[in-house]
Amino acid sequence: MLKIRRAVRDDATQMMLVRREAILAKAAAHYDPATLNDWAGTDITDRVTRIRKKISDPNCIVMVAEVGEEIIGFAMAVPSRNELQALYTRPNPVGHVGRALLAAVEGLAFEAAEFLNCDASLNAESFYRANGYREECRKDHVSSNGGIVSTVVQMRKQRPA
Ligand SMILES: CC(C)(COP(=O)(O)OP(=O)(O)OC[C@H]1O[C@@H](n2cnc3c(N)ncnc32)[C@H](O)[C@@H]1OP(=O)(O)O)[C@@H](O)C(=O)NCCC(=O)NCCS
Repeated sequence: MLKIRRAVRDDATQMMLVRREAILAKAAAHYDPATLNDWAGTDITDRVTRIRKKISDPNCIVMVAEVGEEIIGFAMAVPSRNELQALYTRPNPVGHVGRALLAAVEGLAFEAAEFLNCDASLNAESFYRANGYREECRKDHVSSNGGIVSTVVQMRKQRPA
């Protein structure tokens, strides 16, 4: 049975493995291999450290989706910055895990934030549209080492009335 709960620091490694798997499995049709590999990353150690910090940060809402002991997705928002910062689900037979995670994190974020922005990857654009986000603009995303430029869609959702 699918359970959505707040993340704890011990979830960090599984979350970053989910992130990598989600990108490689679900974004391949929209980005070239170099962009995909740069986004997915090869060394997750640094990412694990960073997500642990976010999990401990009271300004961040970090939630995971799990089935039994296995984490199959996670989401993160920072309401004080009006940002939905991450949403990833690995391939799974459950279905609608992204939608469930998004609803859970929005439910908490919209208590404080009047709107949420996200930089949607091209593969996720229609997912966000189906979940109430509207395009603001398209823009270049520059990789952390500055070597790779890809397109993302800046999207916004207003707090539901
Ligand atoms: C984007 C992502 C989080 C969506 O999660 P998901 O578990 O695949 O999505 P859900 O099953 O909850 O989809 C819910 C609904 O969204 C809609 N949808 C439209 N386009 C979609 C798309 N490209 N992918 C998924 N859902 C889409 C559908 O209406 C779907 O409902 P349906 O199955 O009844 O048709 C997931 O595909 C993912 O991890 N992608 C790779 C990483 C990524 O791009 N993350 C976002 C970074 S901005």
